[in-house]
Parts: sequence; C-alpha cells; structure tokens
Amino acid sequence: PIVTDQLCVKGEVPPDALPPFQCCPPASASEPINFTFPDPGEPLRTRRLVHVVGDEYMAKYARAVALMKSLPVSDPRSFYQQANVHCAYCTGAHRQAGRPDLGVQIHFSWLFFPFHRAYLYFFERIAAKLLGDPGFALPIWSWDVPEGMGIPEAFADVASPLYDPIREPSHAPPKVADLDFFLQGEKNLTDQQLILHNLRVMYRQMVSGATLPSLFLGQPYRAGDPEMPGPGTVEWAPHNTMHTWTGDNSRPNAENMGAYYSAGRDPLFYPHHGNIDRLWETWRNDIVGPDGSRRRHADFTDPDWLDSSFLLYDEEARLVRITVRDVLDADKLRYTYGDVAVPWLAARP
Ligand code: C2O
Repeated sequence: PIVTDQLCVKGEVPPDALPPFQCCPPASASEPINFTFPDPGEPLRTRRLVHVVGDEYMAKYARAVALMKSLPVSDPRSFYQQANVHCAYCTGAHRQAGRPDLGVQIHFSWLFFPFHRAYLYFFERIAAKLLGDPGFALPIWSWDVPEGMGIPEAFADVASPLYDPIREPSHAPPKVADLDFFLQGEKNLTDQQLILHNLRVMYRQMVSGATLPSLFLGQPYRAGDPEMPGPGTVEWAPHNTMHTWTGDNSRPNAENMGAYYSAGRDPLFYPHHGNIDRLWETWRNDIVGPDGSRRRHADFTDPDWLDSSFLLYDEEARLVRITVRDVLDADKLRYTYGDVAVPWLAARP
C-alpha cells in the first residue's frame, strides 16, 4: 500500500505558479494518532445541493470559510493550510513511508476518491466545529443536474468569502458549464444543447464507461509504483474538466481551480468535491442499467488499496492517520447525500 509518511518536502509546482510555493502542512509535535469513527449517535449530516439549500444555508458555509480564513496561518485548520494540504498531496510533497525518494500523488489512480473523501470529512468537521453547529454539512455543487450546471450565484458575489477573483471571467453565472470542457475547448452550442450534451457525458462516465472498479475508481497504485498510473472516468471528466472550466483560462495553469497546487484556494473546490464524492456513492448504489436493472458496483477489495493511508489534521488540530478502509462507509462517517435526482440516467446516447 501507499503509506503517507510525515516527511514532507517542497513539491513540484508548475512554472508560473502563484505563491506560496511551499505547501507542506505545519509539522506535528506528536506522532499521528490512528483514525477512529465518530460516535454513531452523532447527528447524520445531510449534504444537500447548493441550488436546493437556499441562501441562508449558503451564508452559513460562507461564515465557515470566513472563520477558517481568520485562523492564524500556523493553524492546520485555517483555510490557508487546508488549501495547502491539497497542494501537498498533489505535488508529491509528502513522502511514501520507507521510500523518502518517492512522493505520494493522489490523482490519476485509485487513491483519488478515497483521499478526497477523507480530506472533505475533516474539512467539514472543522467547519462545523468553528460554526458551533455539530450538524453542519457541506453544500454540494451538483454540476450534473441541469439546475446546478454553472457556478452557483453564492460564489460569484465579490463581497462574499466564497468569492475567488482568480476564476475564468467568461464562465461566471449564468454561463452553463461544459462537463467535458478541456477535451474539445469552447463549444458552439445553445444552453439547451449543452445541457443535453452534459447529461450524455454523465451517462458515459457513470454508466457505460464505468463498469469495473478500475474504470471508475482509477488504476492500481502501490508502494514503489510510478505515480499517476491512470484516472477513472469521472476523475478525468467532469472532475478535471470542471476544474479547468472554473479556473482562469488566461493563466498558463488556469488557477485557482485549474491547477492541482492552487485548487484548494477556491471555496468552490469543496462543494465541487462533494459532488465527486456523491457520484462515488451513486455509482456504488444507484446505477440502473439500460435494461432497467439496478446495479450495485463493488469497490476494490485489494489490500494494497484498503491499507493505503493519508495524514490529515482533524477538527482538534490533531494529526490523524486515516486509511482507505476507514472511508468506505459514509454512514459510519456520519454523513449522507439523501435522495438526489440523477437525470443523466435517462440520457443514454
Ligand atoms: Cu485533488 Cu479536484 O483535485
């Protein structure tokens, strides 16, 4: 398995990157503790869609981000360090245990879904703790349903803590998103045509192209392997494509959202990954095949996947070691997505 070591060095940031260039989280004075599940009596957080939760709830997320932004930058729970955590795991800054010559890269492999789940889990709990609202759940940017296919208004208000000035200006709302954007560049479609196109992209990535764990979750990546063996369908698109579509395309690296090292600096990153995580749950439980049969997809059972582990800071600022095995049951992590419509299931091309 890929076991993340506490050792973190300067990762590989691309040319023309925007500072800071060093993204290792603050060093922990003590050894990491092993992850334990939250109390099963904790309220179940329901992560709802941005366009469904309403302005008041979005104001709560804005307040959480503002609170994280107001923590000292030396605090691993600060917005600054949370963004850095993502940067560290994307630039190979963390080393593999016992292999100080090899970095940990959590993209383009089977680590993609579980890493981001663990990362959001702690991010959400930090937000809840700072808000003093134990039931707080992250809102979800559901770009796969027509009502969510564009940057939500709450993120476009320049006075809001959810605003990020480093985005593609021509993709501000009410622009309809293009879910396979970087594959073909800007398309010449009406909004209605683009929505239909997006639903078909979703069908391909979630149903016809994602019949096996390796196709959906990504290729195996084991200790000592070269990084980035290959992404799953959804990691490639809409995940990567929506990153690029959101970031400033006039910049060489399409910051902030369009580059791994800087994506976590945009408060939209977290609702974006909430949707990715929701699609993992959907793939496992709710896909209905062309013949009408319900398909439940199983994850990998390979111990090299299950025993891979990451180091992340929790809501008490303790460094925690969490494994892939730990994140496979959302209920045990005390969150759910409730019932969300999946209109693309009917969009078989
Ligand atoms: Cu770690 Cu959306 O990227």
